[in-house]
Amino acid sequence: MNKIVLITGAAQGIGKQTAIDFAKAGWIPSLIDFDQQELAKTLTEVHQIEPKSISVHCDVKNPNEIIKAVLETHDKLGGLNCVINNAGISKWKSPYELSVDEWDEIIQTNLRSVFLFSREAAKYMSKSGGGSIINMASTRAFMSEPHSEAYAATKGGIVALTHALAASFAEEHITVNSISPGWIHTGDYSRLRKIDHEQHLAKRVGKPSDISRACLFLAEPDNNFITGENIMIDGGMTRKMIYEH
Ligand code: NAI
Repeated sequence: MNKIVLITGAAQGIGKQTAIDFAKAGWIPSLIDFDQQELAKTLTEVHQIEPKSISVHCDVKNPNEIIKAVLETHDKLGGLNCVINNAGISKWKSPYELSVDEWDEIIQTNLRSVFLFSREAAKYMSKSGGGSIINMASTRAFMSEPHSEAYAATKGGIVALTHALAASFAEEHITVNSISPGWIHTGDYSRLRKIDHEQHLAKRVGKPSDISRACLFLAEPDNNFITGENIMIDGGMTRKMIYEH
């Protein structure tokens, strides 16, 4: 049986690595993004591993485009077993200066899209015996630096939305979990400094593959005793007590 996974924000970063690693593990990925150019490049790479994979251009802020992206994935690939709600944006700006439009853009991109993709996907998953939904939150749902209000609110919202959806979709055998990454370096890893690595309990900065491996674990039907949960993947940063001596 084919295993179909829909991944949002798949053109680059964590989403791209996740698409590659799912393809290597025998899944057929549907890559969702609004960056046409990067999406095309990533699809070419994923095709080398799984030629049946597809890409769908979609702005996750747009509810109609979400409905169409899920329908197109299901119809072209013949099913839907897993959704990874990964697309996200951030903006660091003083709460005194953040405009209502900026607040709304971040909420619509990071949070509303998670609800809409999950709901649309669940309509198909419920008819085929279940599936798994994995939402990308952040350690910033739990800890803060200044000027991160909108981003933090979306990530905290994702953690709460995750357990609410896990309860609502339980009868349909759909698990819903979130992952809270810490610092995951999506650029050139060799440019990181010693201090960047050393400050983590794990003694290194995270990589996209640290997240994709957890996604693969949660997507595995045998692991369906885990639902409504949030998994921190941050090299121990949120467990590290920081007193200045
Ligand atoms: P990234 O910026 O490298 O990639 C995000 C992708 O989402 C891009 O391909 C972008 O085109 C796409 N995207 C953004 N807005 C979109 C929209 N409206 N419609 C469709 N696609 C859209 O981000 P990265 O670092 O790979 O992060 C992925 C997820 O992980 C995000 O939700 C982020 O908040 C979360 N995260 C990342 C951390 C990190 O250290 N990299 C830490 C904690 C959470």
